[in-house]
Amino acid sequence: MAVVWNGLLVLGLVLGFCLVSSLGELELFAESPKGDGSLAFLVVGDWGRRGNYNQTEVAHQMGIIGEKLDIDFVVSTGDNFYEDGLTGVDDPAFQESFVNIYTHPGLQKQWYSVLGNHDYRGDVEAQLSPILRKMDSRWLCLRSFIVNAEIVELFFVDTTPFVDKYFTKPKGDVYDWSGVLPRKRYLSNLLRDVDLALRESRAKWKIVVGHHTIKSAGHHKNTDELGAQFLPIIQANNVDLYINGHDHCLERIETSDSPIQFLTSGGGSKSWRGDVSWPNPKELKFYYDGQGFMTVQVTEAEIDVVFYDIEGRVLHQWSTAKPLFSII
Ligand SMILES: *[C@@H]1O[C@H](CO)[C@@H](O)[C@H](O)[C@H]1NC(C)=O
Repeated sequence: MAVVWNGLLVLGLVLGFCLVSSLGELELFAESPKGDGSLAFLVVGDWGRRGNYNQTEVAHQMGIIGEKLDIDFVVSTGDNFYEDGLTGVDDPAFQESFVNIYTHPGLQKQWYSVLGNHDYRGDVEAQLSPILRKMDSRWLCLRSFIVNAEIVELFFVDTTPFVDKYFTKPKGDVYDWSGVLPRKRYLSNLLRDVDLALRESRAKWKIVVGHHTIKSAGHHKNTDELGAQFLPIIQANNVDLYINGHDHCLERIETSDSPIQFLTSGGGSKSWRGDVSWPNPKELKFYYDGQGFMTVQVTEAEIDVVFYDIEGRVLHQWSTAKPLFSII
C-alpha cells in the first residue's frame, strides 16, 4: 500500500511556503522501484460490466502477466462501472465488477483509478470514498492526483469536465457535477495545478493518465477540448506518454510534431466497435479493435510498452530509451 502524503504538505516543507498556495489540491502518493531499479504496471480501461464482454477473460490474463512481470500497481483509465457509475458506496457493482473479477494473485496490488464519463453519471463521491478503500484496500480513485515512483511520475487528470457536450447536450444522461461547478474555475485550477506539478517534477519519465482521448482513431476520435486546453501543457513539460481509455480498443499513435506517445488502453470489456479512421496512416502505429490491456515497464534508462489480447498474446510492443546521466 502506498504511503499517502498530502502533496501540499510535503512539497511545502521541502520547497518553502511560497509554493503552497499555488500547488492546489493534487494529492501525492509514493511508489518505489524494485531493488533492481525497475518498475512495472498494468493499464486497463472501460471495464466494469460484471464480468461480461470478456471482462473476466481480460482480468485472468492481467493476473498471469501481472504475476510474471511482478507488477507494482495497476492503472485504470476510467469508466470503472457501467452504465452509470455507482449508485452509492453500497452498490453491489463494486463487488460484482471489481472485487470479484480481479481476483488473480497477480492483481493484489494498489489500483490507481481516474473517473470516466460513465462514472460521472453515478454518485461520484461514492467512487472517491474511503469506505470503498476499506472494503477493498486495492481501490483508490480520485479526480486528479500524482503517483511519484522516483524514476517515473504519473499525473492522473480528471478529463470528463473538459468535454462541452456533457454540459450542453447531455441527451438523457444525468451527470453528477457536484464538486466540479463552477466549471470554469474547476478547469482553470486543474490546468494550473497539473502544469505546476509537471514543471516541478524531477522524475526521468513523465506519464499523464486521463480517461478521454487526446488523439484517437477509434469511435470517439480526438477530444478537441483536451487538444486545445491540455495538450499544450503536456507538450511544454516534456511528457513522454499520454495514456487514456474511452475508446474501447488498444492503440498507439505517434505524430511527427510531438514526441509524446498517445496510448489507448480501453479494452477492459465491451469492444469490437468496427469504427476506425485516422487521416495519416503512418501515425497510427497500432490499432486493435478488441479486448485486452497494456503493460508498462520502466527503468531509469528505458520504457517498454506491450499490448496483450485476452489470450495473453502480444499484439504490439514499443520501447524508448534516454541516456542514463542526462542533466534534466
Ligand atoms: C471475446 O473475445 C473473443 C476473442 O477476441 C472474441 O472473438 C469475442 O467476440 C469476444 N466477445 C465479446 C462479447 O466481445
